[in-house]
Amino acid sequence: MNERRHDESGSRGGRAQRVGRRDVVLRLLASLACLPVAETAGQERRNGEDPRHAVLIVYLSRTNNTKAVATFVHERMGGTLVPLELSTPYPRDYDATVQQVAQENETGYLPPLTTRVDRIDQYGIVFLGFPTWGMQLPPPIKSFLRAHDLKGKIVIPFNTNAGYGVGSSFRTVKELCPHSTVLEGFTTRGGVERDGELLAIRGARAEAVQQDVDDWLTKVVASEPRNPR
Ligand SMILES: Cc1cc2nc3c(=O)[nH]c(=O)nc-3n(C[C@H](O)[C@H](O)[C@H](O)COP(=O)(O)O)c2cc1C
Repeated sequence: MNERRHDESGSRGGRAQRVGRRDVVLRLLASLACLPVAETAGQERRNGEDPRHAVLIVYLSRTNNTKAVATFVHERMGGTLVPLELSTPYPRDYDATVQQVAQENETGYLPPLTTRVDRIDQYGIVFLGFPTWGMQLPPPIKSFLRAHDLKGKIVIPFNTNAGYGVGSSFRTVKELCPHSTVLEGFTTRGGVERDGELLAIRGARAEAVQQDVDDWLTKVVASEPRNPR
């Protein structure tokens, strides 16, 4: 398992204010997470946490834009941050990767992952981050969803793309998580690898995206029907 655990939230500028915001978001999420998740007799509680409220952040990122957003989510929410890794990584070459992904989409091939999240039952809230690939959900995310049962959990997608939007990716997450509560996703422009622009979410742009992520987290939780305010 290549799960990386970070139980402390990180800090950037304006810590007191940001921690306050995180607490609010956590409280809101905790209240909306009251889903009928089975609590089996032997289920462990980490640090006395209610397992329905534990947060998992899984992401796929090739050029680190989605990773940047995942990091912002993690800073606000805490929990467990897990980068998805493949048994056979995609080629370094962009065009070759585009071609391979197109073929995988055509055939429905699900590339094997080395990442496996053990005891997925301990998480009630799963953030799922990915770039748009071929205007679709990247095949490795489908592999993850095939291998992990998110039934009864809150699933919250987030995305970066080269400016063409999420395509069918958010819709596909809903289709592949029919027994989860899928909340409104977050999307922002990332890099344009095709044109040699790799990591775009850095510097001033990273600050702006971090604020957008904060605003989204607050909005998406407050607008959830079970959590009127
Ligand atoms: C194989 C592949 C296909 C892509 N297809 C699209 C696309 O259809 N639409 C789009 O807006 N961006 C597309 N992109 C660009 C990425 O979505 C964008 O650069 C994103 O920010 C990359 O995220 P990452 O840095 O986390 O890997 C594609 C990139 C790759 C590698």
